Amino acid sequence: MPLSRVSMRQLRAFEAVARNRSYSRAAEELHITQPAVSKQVKLLKDIIGLELVEVVGKRVFLTEIGQQLYTTCGEWLDTWGRFEQAVADKKGTTQGRLRIATVTTAEYFMPRMLGPFCAQYPGIDISMEVFNRDRLLEQLSDNRADFCIMGVPPEGKNIHSEELMANDLVVIASAEHELAQRQNIPLRELENFQFLVREQGSGTRIAVQREFDAKQIELNVRMELGSNVAIKQAVAGNLGLGVLSSSTLHRNYRDELVILDVEGFPIRRAWYAVRPKGKKLSIVAQTFLDFLRQNAHQYMEQRP
Ligand code: PGA
Repeated sequence: MPLSRVSMRQLRAFEAVARNRSYSRAAEELHITQPAVSKQVKLLKDIIGLELVEVVGKRVFLTEIGQQLYTTCGEWLDTWGRFEQAVADKKGTTQGRLRIATVTTAEYFMPRMLGPFCAQYPGIDISMEVFNRDRLLEQLSDNRADFCIMGVPPEGKNIHSEELMANDLVVIASAEHELAQRQNIPLRELENFQFLVREQGSGTRIAVQREFDAKQIELNVRMELGSNVAIKQAVAGNLGLGVLSSSTLHRNYRDELVILDVEGFPIRRAWYAVRPKGKKLSIVAQTFLDFLRQNAHQYMEQRP
């Protein structure tokens, strides 16, 4: 079959499957059913005449030609996205696509901020992808998002980062921990306790290690855990202390956890909107950034 019969819908379905490595996540993202996604990918395979995807157990792998098509789709979608945006910008409307990429810790507040934004601008089609810092840096260097939200922006002249709101680091412990009721805990005393820390490549991990190094305090690592939720659960189980962004604490965190009163804490940091220097923001992205500038501080103040 001639390749010219390939449709945009098929390519979008395939790209979402390849990027998510999952038919169900692709279906969720595209707001269509899983059989509809499978159908589009099968039609594409029939037109191309080669296997694109292999499913082993429940895992999705790309064949060699599938990988090539995925790269092509990425470039094509970027180009097409820019065209769509140029049309929206020309019409001067706040309609179109917004692609935000954030670090994992930002998932505690960014989705909530999207709610009032979407209510104000219903015509904007938003995608928000979540990565740890290392993977987010890849997104940034591939220019795959309008802008990224992170706590430790990369250094260098080619990056533009703008401070948006507070991102304090706090020491947390189980309510049962021996330090839980103490006040003015000297920083050096932390050397006597074991810590549960985020995985290598996490922005939180980098920030914590930098602080401890700067203060010449040894960070006694008991365990590495791959998410903030896992750390909070393990701290609540009294496996050790944790240092996390206060953004990760829910209103009712006091049921299980306490923020320790440690000398030098909370460590004042910030959340940043980051993009490659010189990147021109679409009207939609500019509108969202303005929305964050106006509302982020107020939103953070309502948190514990
Ligand atoms: P992380 O980043 O979610 O990768 O730990 C958090 C931060 O940069 O503050």
